[in-house]
Amino acid sequence: METRNSAERKPHAVLIPYPVQGHINPLFKLAKLLHLRGFHITFVHTEYNHKRLIKSRGPNALDGLSDFHFETIPDGLPTTIDDVNVTQDIVSLCKTVRENLLTPFCDLLARLNNSATPVTCLVSDCGMTFTLQAAQELSLPIVMFPPASACCLLSGVRYRTRFDEGLIPLKDESYLTNEYLDTKVDTPGMKNSRLKDSPDFIRSTDPNYSMVEFFMEQVDNMHRASAIIINTFVELENDALNALSSIFPSLYPIGPFPSFLSQCPQNHLASLGSNLWKEDTGCLEWLESKKPKSVVYVSFGSVTVMSPEQLLEFAWGLANSKRPFLWIIRPDLVAGGSVVLSSEFVNETSDRGLIASWCPQEEVLNHSSIGLFLTHCGWNSVTESICAGVPMLCWPFFADQPTNCKLICNELGIGVEIDKNVKRKEVEKLVNELMVGDKGKKMRQEIMELKKKAEENTRLGGGSYMNLEKLIGEVLLKQN
Ligand code: UDX
Repeated sequence: METRNSAERKPHAVLIPYPVQGHINPLFKLAKLLHLRGFHITFVHTEYNHKRLIKSRGPNALDGLSDFHFETIPDGLPTTIDDVNVTQDIVSLCKTVRENLLTPFCDLLARLNNSATPVTCLVSDCGMTFTLQAAQELSLPIVMFPPASACCLLSGVRYRTRFDEGLIPLKDESYLTNEYLDTKVDTPGMKNSRLKDSPDFIRSTDPNYSMVEFFMEQVDNMHRASAIIINTFVELENDALNALSSIFPSLYPIGPFPSFLSQCPQNHLASLGSNLWKEDTGCLEWLESKKPKSVVYVSFGSVTVMSPEQLLEFAWGLANSKRPFLWIIRPDLVAGGSVVLSSEFVNETSDRGLIASWCPQEEVLNHSSIGLFLTHCGWNSVTESICAGVPMLCWPFFADQPTNCKLICNELGIGVEIDKNVKRKEVEKLVNELMVGDKGKKMRQEIMELKKKAEENTRLGGGSYMNLEKLIGEVLLKQN
């Protein structure tokens, strides 16, 4: 017979993100959502990111709550933090994740299982494929989470076919032409798809182990999971979700997370954050002084690196547009060194431009002064922008971003793409068109409709809301 204590015990979910910012943030939101549904949460960081969190959020960064706590495991890479280039090398990270994380993760689970709240289920980033073995050994349900769009997952599924057909990886760099990348590819659920709309690991010319294979491995392994969660909703990616549901029967679209969380009272969770850079909250005060929908918010996420020339084109495009702007320039945004903007640019824009190295992005996007988001199209930025009702000017950099950009610009009509070879004239023209032109007006209407759908989905009884309930009942709390 169950004791009173065990009968009252909360279910215990262990969540482990791939250890980079764009993967940590959405899983952290999911952890909060599950906590609000009565779960005891353990959130697992790497020791390296723990150090970064202490730098950005102070010594108590991982103190947590009695039923929402943090653990760390080593990632096998050096733990010294370079003040400028803080993001670990992606290829080394992919390698170490595959080779070194299973043992410390299993040790952690064994320790948690000996505690007062044994583990009930695992929720893992899909890049952390070793967690599937851990789940199997402990007979735990495991949910895999790709922190990207349904379109991106669908493109990933098609990678295997393109790989077998010899389309990817590219034989050499001479294939990196518009003509080749414009090749039409058949992707059920994604209309008029071209090779270049696939996650851009296809650009790899490495015939050996590459990001292409890392990505294909993730997708192949997803079939071993008890379920898959996507941070999306039906009205956003209906075709892709339909196509995916026949490939992955246990697929739960439960997004968008920002809209979900904004509808929950969560003051007790306010002290818990996941930003690896220190947030400059002064931006919010600065925004207070600006007129409604007058400011262009510019951010290229946590990984994008551009050349000094590209930075200058963006800078002068913004300056010449004469619009106020808030630009997030990470210390490592520019390849090969620190960011230098001329005093001419600084003088020219001092009355209307603000540059910060990191900000509370969701709060910024939801500020009434923001009228446009110049973005690299990371999926978190896209979903946050939709939840805030802010149209996008898109400059996709890598990974899933070209796929997201196609969805935003060609399917949903809530953004416009800037040429990869960015020029100041184009930036100036598009900023003005989207801020005050008819095109911008139309896009604002479209994105406000999507924002409404996002809210309906995540409200009591909405599609994503019900999917989360089903996921909890059918998968996370299911006894093996
Ligand atoms: C990466 C990939 O590049 C992205 O395409 C993928 O979908 C997820 O992983 P990243 O490039 O960092 O992410 O972009 P994005 O997905 O937009 O995530 C950035 C996160 O950092 C967002 O949650 C954003 O709100 C946050 N952020 C960014 C801040 O909080 N402050 C900032 O100043 C900038």
